[in-house]
Amino acid sequence: MRIILIGFMASGKTTVGKSIANKLGLKFIDMDREIEKEENCSIADIFKEHGEDYFRMAESNLLKDVICKEDVVISTGGGVVTKEENIDILKTQKNVIFLDANVETLVRNVSSEVEKRPLLKESFDVQKKISNMLSSRYDKYIRASKLIIDTNNKNVEEVVSQILVYIG
Ligand code: S3P
Repeated sequence: MRIILIGFMASGKTTVGKSIANKLGLKFIDMDREIEKEENCSIADIFKEHGEDYFRMAESNLLKDVICKEDVVISTGGGVVTKEENIDILKTQKNVIFLDANVETLVRNVSSEVEKRPLLKESFDVQKKISNMLSSRYDKYIRASKLIIDTNNKNVEEVVSQILVYIG
């Protein structure tokens, strides 16, 4: 069993992923944390020191690696769908679940941790930035996923139980 969560920054992938892994006795892999471990550097510093292209390369390489693992819940970075080759990989998978949160929910969730998110922290208007990024990515999340969960106004438990019903 392999469950892959996709969605925008702060859509709840990590919290939901950990809970599912815990409930099903699966290993949890957070791709951002894996990259930080490999690079021995925070995501923010990877962006600062090496740039986004370098990060995207590391992310794609890691995706190819984790996608072969068994009995895992994988939380991807919000920008994993920005590369078409990554969408192609995700489309080969059965349980790719898109946590679909709207701009309002995302702004609320992200407000306490903008600093950790290099693509948002330089922004004067975070709401506008999220709105623009989400618009340009939305169709990619849809194309890459097999199940879409509207997470607005739902707590973690509700999202988790919807996923558990889906995977049977
Ligand atoms: C990114 C999302 C982040 C992280 C990086 C870039 C993005 O992951 O990979 O800051 O482009 O949306 P989370 O979705 O886990 O915050």
